Amino acid sequence: MADILMRHDFDVQGRNFDKAGEVSSEIKVILKGLGIDSKIIRRVVVVSFEAEMNVTMYADKGTIVFELTDRNILLTISDEGPGIPDIEQALQEGYSTAPDEMRELGFGFGMGLPNMKKNSDEFEIDSVVARGTTVHARIGHNA
Ligand SMILES: Nc1ncnc2c1ncn2[C@@H]1O[C@H](COP(=O)(O)OP(=O)(O)OP(=O)(O)O)[C@@H](O)[C@H]1O
Ligand SMILES: [Mg+2]
Repeated sequence: MADILMRHDFDVQGRNFDKAGEVSSEIKVILKGLGIDSKIIRRVVVVSFEAEMNVTMYADKGTIVFELTDRNILLTISDEGPGIPDIEQALQEGYSTAPDEMRELGFGFGMGLPNMKKNSDEFEIDSVVARGTTVHARIGHNA
């Protein structure tokens, strides 16, 4: 395992839509400050934003851990929440259990997890029903 050069831990509150997206904005600022390629930044921010939204929408609370190595950006998003009973189904484009009030806010297209996977070089979901969900994403960089 390569050395972790930088680590930031963030909290995400479930159901607090006023704060949703703040962690991803902070991660974007950090990556810009590091001079990471803008295409890589975009991919990392898609993953962190969609993960942050899922914690906000579905879970009670969660954390996002951002880690940087010389070659990779690692995101670990863990939450305490309902968990995902069928991960394969959740990963399908268009699958969503979002209620109508969230669709009215412009969420619930069932595209978050598929887009997170597409934008990652490595992507893994672990979930326990009635406990919570952990998502690991690795995005390579060569800055
Ligand atoms: N952290 C989570 N905890 C519990 N269920 C989740 C979590 N993340 C995703 N899910 C489940 O997986 C489904 C698909 O998630 P995904 O992010 O792809 O779509 P969405 O959140 O419904 O819509 P969108 O992301 O397009 O706004 C969700 O509707 C929900 O049922
Ligand atoms: Mg989502």
